[in-house]
Amino acid sequence: MANTNKIRIGIIGAGNIGGVHAGEFSKLTDLCEITAITDAYLPLAEEKAKQYSIANVAASPEELIRRPDVDAVIIGVPNQFHAPLAIQAIDAGKHVLLEKPMGINGDAARQILKASQASNSVVMVGHQMRWESVPMQIKEQVDRGELGKIYTAKTGWFRRKGIPGWGTWFTQMDQSGGGPLIDIGVHMLDLALYLMGNPKPVSVYGATYAEFGPSRKGIGTWGKPNWNGTYDVEDLATALIKMEDGSTLSLEVSWAVHMDTDNTPFIHLMGSEGGASYRGGQGKLLTEKFDRPIETELRKADNDEGERARLSRHFLDCISEGKQPITSALSGLTNNLVLDAIYESSRTGNEVKLDWNLN
Ligand SMILES: NC(=O)c1ccc[n+]([C@@H]2O[C@H](COP(=O)([O-])OP(=O)(O)OC[C@H]3O[C@@H](n4cnc5c(N)ncnc54)[C@H](O)[C@@H]3O)[C@@H](O)[C@H]2O)c1
Repeated sequence: MANTNKIRIGIIGAGNIGGVHAGEFSKLTDLCEITAITDAYLPLAEEKAKQYSIANVAASPEELIRRPDVDAVIIGVPNQFHAPLAIQAIDAGKHVLLEKPMGINGDAARQILKASQASNSVVMVGHQMRWESVPMQIKEQVDRGELGKIYTAKTGWFRRKGIPGWGTWFTQMDQSGGGPLIDIGVHMLDLALYLMGNPKPVSVYGATYAEFGPSRKGIGTWGKPNWNGTYDVEDLATALIKMEDGSTLSLEVSWAVHMDTDNTPFIHLMGSEGGASYRGGQGKLLTEKFDRPIETELRKADNDEGERARLSRHFLDCISEGKQPITSALSGLTNNLVLDAIYESSRTGNEVKLDWNLN
């Protein structure tokens, strides 16, 4: 029987990630329908509407949010607009799938969390790596206690020449909130904390550097540069994050660095009974028996439907079943508080305690 309760979706932002979401959700025809799309640059919204057979192009985000045939809004716009648009959508009673980072900073993230707590809306952050096959297999082992207590972890992602869209919103602090730390570091931080069992971060010691971007070096292939623009964010960040339970996480990311690196995201979990490593879609469990090390390879199945399909379905399931998403607004705020503290630590040269005041 045809599903008459399809969730009706509106997409704000028809750029890179807006297009990815349009592609994914338009495949889930039994569960949802994309009814409207908009972008600050309307011709792009019109192009995506045509490509994915979306019936309506709204003239503005406000108009899209107001539409009675939109139940849920996907927001894929520059970071500075995440909080204002998400809060507007939540206040209008819509569910929200918001791209990462949840806020441009901790204050913006606090406001989103507060709005979500005062509503019945599902608010979810787009950290698709949590739905990758190998991290899911690792998480299952962690939850079964196979690794024992995870006391320390290392995560990172080094790009050698990977500055995206030099001079666009990506490289301007007031629009992005930062460089690789808030762009790709937030994915690694989010995934590492999740795999560690969501310990509460309490303090941070960090440093950031900009050795490439200001002199227009280290440019990557993602996004078209705008040489009339500016670059005032970091291109490398390094940090040690301490948790309430005594465990630690080291996080290192770059958009540009002179290093023998293959641009592969990684996580190493070190537990009292075992370890686990994730490297760009593959992984290993590291245990021992009779004092002998055992390595178990983890890889995704040949017919794996992919993390983005699972993320999309999770959002729709949470709406249908009134569930809290695993990438909740609280997890988004946690990430933002850690990022804020790393930037502050870099500025001051001191260890920074996280500001968990939610007001
Ligand atoms: N989950 C991921 O792996 C992933 C990947 C890429 C980007 N992102 C995130 O998605 C967001 C967008 O990134 P992108 O790469 O798609 O950028 P993009 O520049 O390709 O697209 C952003 C689009 O938003 C539009 N826009 C700007 N301000 C707007 C506004 N106020 N209202 C409506 N439209 C507006 C722009 O015209 C542009 O088309 C960022 O927050 C980024 O961090 C996430």
